[in-house]
Amino acid sequence: MIPVYEPSLDGNEFNYVTECLKTNWISSKGKFSNLLCSNFSKYTNINYVTNVSNGTCALSLALATLGIPKGSEVLIPSFGYVAVAASVVRHGAIPVFVDIDLLDLQIDVFDLERKINNNTSAIIGIHNYGYPYRSSIVNKIAKNYGIFHIEDCAEAIGTKDYNGNHVGNESDISTFSLYANKTITAGEGGLLCSNSKELVVSANNLKNHAISEPGVYDHNDFGFNFRMTNIASAIALAQLENIENKLLRKKEIAKKYKEGIKSSRFKLFDPNPELNLNSYWMNTLLTKSPNESEILMKHLKNNNIETRPLFKPVHLMEPYNKFSSEKLTASEKISGCGINLPSFPSLKNEQIEIIIKTINNLD
Ligand SMILES: Cc1ncc(COP(=O)(O)O)c(C=O)c1O
Repeated sequence: MIPVYEPSLDGNEFNYVTECLKTNWISSKGKFSNLLCSNFSKYTNINYVTNVSNGTCALSLALATLGIPKGSEVLIPSFGYVAVAASVVRHGAIPVFVDIDLLDLQIDVFDLERKINNNTSAIIGIHNYGYPYRSSIVNKIAKNYGIFHIEDCAEAIGTKDYNGNHVGNESDISTFSLYANKTITAGEGGLLCSNSKELVVSANNLKNHAISEPGVYDHNDFGFNFRMTNIASAIALAQLENIENKLLRKKEIAKKYKEGIKSSRFKLFDPNPELNLNSYWMNTLLTKSPNESEILMKHLKNNNIETRPLFKPVHLMEPYNKFSSEKLTASEKISGCGINLPSFPSLKNEQIEIIIKTINNLD
């Protein structure tokens, strides 16, 4: 089976992890934890970074750090990974689902602004599939209304925003995931970033039991343990060292898919390629109907090629539908009409050719 994703551990991962084990630095303290945060800050140009256990913890920590009031409304796109909605509900806030724009599968800024009211406390945008949403416009909207803006960049390491900066710079707090299917990984891990020192100092305190003073059992807040280990950070650091190669290869893979399927009835999702913003986390093939997607997925599976469906809109899921009575036309329309293809950097050219041939073979 060609998997839809697998990590490529092709740099210093083994050496760095061995160093952790040999030197006994296996908890969250240690040089790799520090180096990961400082190097990630340099790479993204976001001033302050703290590492956490995973991308979902990063979201929960962002909501806690900003002091999002319980019972307030947080605007989120319905078309996106469920961790965002779950974090909002677990925080005790109310998710308000916003539609997407079909041109780029990202949050619809008009629908977003329409849904702001006196009880809105924050917006969480998601850069879906490695393509950026209009984060600077969303940031302006958030500032105009005096609400917070969190940027979920879990799927968008290496993605540029419309100003040409690394995503994560146009918000109060941005979050990243280092799960095994992400462009760089720690197995499990996450990062919380901000250009505000105060916010990252506060997040750092909350992620570590809100300890007032090291070694003293006195705590200044209701903290979490969201720490990331030095071992996981060592893996992520080695991955970050190779990020440019990974991104280049991902771009090459997208180009091959695009060329290869251009005479088929399917289309590769790739808006505004001339702007060079996409980090091509996932290659998404768009179909004309849900039925066509289902047939294509089955056909690929029968030929040992793993794929994934597009996100089901969160407002249609049983635990979440009580938060929404509105139809979100674009999210509902696109959800069934596409699949994600194998997209990991170590995918071989021969495998890509097999995938393309199999797609083109479908009657
Ligand atoms: C947009 C988005 N946000 C958050 C997460 C959660 O990250 P993690 O799996 O590291 O908790 C993911 C996926 O993993 C994601 O795709």
